[in-house]
Amino acid sequence: MSDEIKKGLLGIIVDETEVSKVMPEINSLTYRGYAAQDLCAKCKFEEVAYLILNGELPNKKQLNNFEKQERKERKLSKTLLEDIKKFPKKAHPMDVARTAVSIMGLEDKDTKDNSPKANMRKVMRIFAKTPVALAAFYRSRKGQKIIPPKNNLSFSENFFHMCFGKVPDKEIVKAFDVSLILYAEHSFNVSTFTARTITSSLSDIHGAITGAIASLKGPLHGGANEEVMHMMNKIKKPENALQWINKALDNKDVVMGFGHRVYKSGDSRVPTMREYFGKVAKIKKDKKFEKIYDIVEKVMIDRKNIHPNVDYPTGPTYHLMGFDTDFFTPIFVISRITGWSAHIIEQHAANKLIRPLASYKGNQHRKVLQLNQR
Ligand code: COA
Repeated sequence: MSDEIKKGLLGIIVDETEVSKVMPEINSLTYRGYAAQDLCAKCKFEEVAYLILNGELPNKKQLNNFEKQERKERKLSKTLLEDIKKFPKKAHPMDVARTAVSIMGLEDKDTKDNSPKANMRKVMRIFAKTPVALAAFYRSRKGQKIIPPKNNLSFSENFFHMCFGKVPDKEIVKAFDVSLILYAEHSFNVSTFTARTITSSLSDIHGAITGAIASLKGPLHGGANEEVMHMMNKIKKPENALQWINKALDNKDVVMGFGHRVYKSGDSRVPTMREYFGKVAKIKKDKKFEKIYDIVEKVMIDRKNIHPNVDYPTGPTYHLMGFDTDFFTPIFVISRITGWSAHIIEQHAANKLIRPLASYKGNQHRKVLQLNQR
């Protein structure tokens, strides 16, 4: 066996998957064989969630049943709702998401059953309840009355309703839906691999998703969409952008929302999300962030040949929609639950314990001296 170390598992293929395919050479991403941008154009998020979880696009009847099931599972237990009200107001919502899913695991009657059927029942509950838990915290931390879910609203409409008490224009809801579709799945990224690693010891789905949320929180992964907004807020206005980004590069800073482990000449999801960011900016009559976006992007490509990733356009899009910045990554969570779950189910179906090796570089064998001899 070769002793070569592949730090960060760079370039290592660890397993097979049928869920999605990332093709950096042709700048494409497919979910179960369908191009993500086609799904954005022709489907709503629930259809794509069904596709990721079940392998096929739903017909009308299947979609109807799926939506019914999701809507039926939205209600939180009294205990979870009361717990959320007691969470520290300054807690990061990603930690709230992680804790909420963990509590759901304590309450779920199927927790110990990892059969495919039980896993699917648990997925539907986590998928339906996590947005409700997050929206409850969104309001309770501001001292606002929690708004319960409404069963006549779609997944995206309901999220707006629970956070803001109203559903925005159709175009805004569509842009949000598109962002969820683009965030839903992306092969063996760090949070998905975390979920699969946890699953590989035959642990349960709540544990795997809790771990995946912790992984997604980091700024090198999902947390980047929040960091992008912090960066844009620091830049403040388009007139400052050129100087700001040049200085950041002179200082050798990492610029959030740029670069990718797999895509080296552009993230396949960016063009679609960039288009919807523009639509939202137009509706909101606020072009400031678009201008900053374009200037920073141009310099990053000209000076470093580093392209934006999907977190770059989603950050300012969510801001224009009115979401608090620390809710950007939790929005990523409510979508990626579908991708994580599909991978957890896939891992369970053909499991092999994930257990790599390490090259030891610590002290060589030493003799233990008694306490009084040290
Ligand atoms: N800003 C500035 N320089 C960057 C950069 C960025 N966002 N992303 C990569 N680079 C540079 C690195 O400094 C490195 O330069 P060097 O060879 O001179 O040291 C080179 O590009 C390779 O980057 P590296 O970090 O080794 O690539 P990676 O595949 O390990 O990392 C990321 C990928 C995503 C971790 C990295 O691009 C990054 O930190 N991006 C910002 C965070 C982000 O947006 N994350 C969301 C990803 S979807």
